[in-house]
Amino acid sequence: MIIMKSSGEEACRPESASGGEWVRRAGTPGGGRSASIGTSPGGSRLPWGGDAHGFGKRFHEVSGGTGDARRCFDAELGFVMTEHRETGAGWTLVRADCDAAMRSIDAGSVDLVYADPPFATNLVQRGRSVDQAYDDRWTGMPEYLDFMTARIEGMHRVLAADGAILLHCDWRTSHHLRFVLDRVFGPDRFVNHLVWRYGLGGSSPNRFARKHDDILYYARGEDRWFEPPMVPATSRRMAGQLKKATDVLDVPSINNMAAERTGWPTQKPLALLRMLVGACLRPGGTLLDPFCGSGTSLVAAVEGGRRAIGVDRDPAAIRISRDRLADVGGD
Ligand SMILES: C[S@@+](CC[C@H](N)C(=O)[O-])C[C@H]1O[C@@H](n2cnc3c(N)ncnc32)[C@H](O)[C@@H]1O
Repeated sequence: MIIMKSSGEEACRPESASGGEWVRRAGTPGGGRSASIGTSPGGSRLPWGGDAHGFGKRFHEVSGGTGDARRCFDAELGFVMTEHRETGAGWTLVRADCDAAMRSIDAGSVDLVYADPPFATNLVQRGRSVDQAYDDRWTGMPEYLDFMTARIEGMHRVLAADGAILLHCDWRTSHHLRFVLDRVFGPDRFVNHLVWRYGLGGSSPNRFARKHDDILYYARGEDRWFEPPMVPATSRRMAGQLKKATDVLDVPSINNMAAERTGWPTQKPLALLRMLVGACLRPGGTLLDPFCGSGTSLVAAVEGGRRAIGVDRDPAAIRISRDRLADVGGD
């Protein structure tokens, strides 16, 4: 384990496979912003704000943990919406827009953010069944970047001084999001531009095949925890030995028959998340995944002795995440 200084250190189905044109449509995929309301889960050290605002209301028990709901007045859309939150051993799941959810997490209380947002594919991403889908259509890049900028600012706010962020994206937005991260975190907080090389999809007779995603790694402050992942060496000289991973991570995408496949669209492989969480989050630390989908990062964190907070606005995603967490003994 090394505590790194930011300066002077060494170093499913991928969305990339598909694309679309910008369309104009009513409403924003991210929904409006909600008022900031906090409730605290009983006995948990997870970093939710207290009951100071008085809106928290426990209303029913959820299998594997306890559940809270909160009713929020949405300042932009002007209606009352319900957010749902439940906790188990080492995890919290919140069904809400992550912009609203992050407002009720204490500033400086998260050690690692892993964010795998919609990639601006301009498609409805569909999974195995009709309820396994999410909308990734936007009126254009400005709308997408407004959505992401507000949420990246929220992620920055909740990170501890020695925390870090891994922002998962691809060729459509990685150049824009580097700018946003530079502005919010500072260009001197850039650590790595990781390439996840997955193999499947992306081929075309008209261009080089698109076979990777981008993961932008930034530190919140000067210090951060890092343990280099070890991967099999490829050179003949080091055959059979392990070496430190480079910034190109070779991890196969999830094949259709894989046991870990949940049916949620754009699910990322557990092997990738195990590598990222093991490298960038100290044991006992807290992970926040504001776009948790099927909960891959949460499973990697909890099974590796970390705590995890997952947020997704889709009820089916939360259900899948809860079931996967229960399977790793996190209930
Ligand atoms: C790329 S997927 C995440 C996949 C996940 N990493 C996995 O392995 O399953 C993006 C997720 O963001 C969710 N989402 C989209 N907009 C959101 C928002 N405003 N707040 C919270 N979740 C959102 C979608 O429902 C979807 O599950």
